[in-house]
Amino acid sequence: MIRIPKTLPAAAPITAIRQDNYRTKTFTFDARLDATPGQFVMAWLPRFDEKPFSLVSADPVALMISAVGPATRLMHELAVGDKLWLRGPFGHGFDAPADQRRIALVAGGYGVAPLLWLARHELGRRDEITVILGARSVQELLYADDLRALASERAGSTAVRLALATEDGSAGRRGLVTDVLQPLLDAGEVDGIYACGPHGMLVALEGLSRRYAIPGQLSWEAYMRCGVGICGACEHDGAVLCLDGPVLSVTP
Ligand SMILES: Cc1cc2nc3c(=O)[nH]c(=O)nc-3n(C[C@H](O)[C@H](O)[C@H](O)COP(=O)(O)OP(=O)(O)OC[C@H]3O[C@@H](n4cnc5c(N)ncnc54)[C@H](O)[C@@H]3O)c2cc1C
Ligand code: FES
Repeated sequence: MIRIPKTLPAAAPITAIRQDNYRTKTFTFDARLDATPGQFVMAWLPRFDEKPFSLVSADPVALMISAVGPATRLMHELAVGDKLWLRGPFGHGFDAPADQRRIALVAGGYGVAPLLWLARHELGRRDEITVILGARSVQELLYADDLRALASERAGSTAVRLALATEDGSAGRRGLVTDVLQPLLDAGEVDGIYACGPHGMLVALEGLSRRYAIPGQLSWEAYMRCGVGICGACEHDGAVLCLDGPVLSVTP
């Protein structure tokens, strides 16, 4: 198994590919690194492009890749045995304080990639983990089965709850993830909010975090080039996301 460096990309052989939905696959590599949930790697297709992806796990390295444009569509053509060039880990991940006994993990689209790992990581460390998984429709939902399996595991004293929300009502509650979260905040059942997903969802969660005075850690996206704080491509609200983020704290 190769160890991924932070400096030059290393060729990582693909050992497994799982089709997650019509445009998303999870790639597992014969590679490992030391990282925490929420950190990301840069994945390079030689002579084409290099793109950031959150880690789904670090040992072995696994990445969930949605085919949304030229680079990710080419990555979807890779087969088991092919290689992708990886460097990392980069950025700051999630860091949940020990006194938050009940945490809510809110995921939109492929934002669930780092949150599945965070949920696994926090098993046995919290009293309750509520995962709220949202998508436009049931066809777009990702990792619902992995999260259902986790919810039935019950590691130590941690209870895991899973709530689904789809905009068309084809799975779970019809509506947005915030429609599921807000009643929990009203009931005082959440001590910390952890989220990754589309920009609009994060802006709404930032507002809820402030309004209810519940600390939040939100993983933001931006175009990235260097991944190490040099090029300025990933500036967000005065932060350089590849160094200061992608997870930024909301202090109520
Ligand atoms: C820290 C971080 C973690 C990420 N983790 C994942 C992951 O786990 N799985 C995954 O599938 N993707 C992830 N992404 C997004 C991924 O990097 C992009 O989807 C990829 O770069 C698209 O490349 P492309 O050439 O295929 O498409 P492009 O042509 O570059 O993009 C296709 C469309 O996607 C949108 N887009 C692409 N990149 C971004 C971005 N960074 N911010 C906002 N909109 C964007 C644009 O609107 C564009 O129209 C992550 C991005 C960041 C910054
Ligand atoms: S990607 Fe270059 S500064 Fe963040």
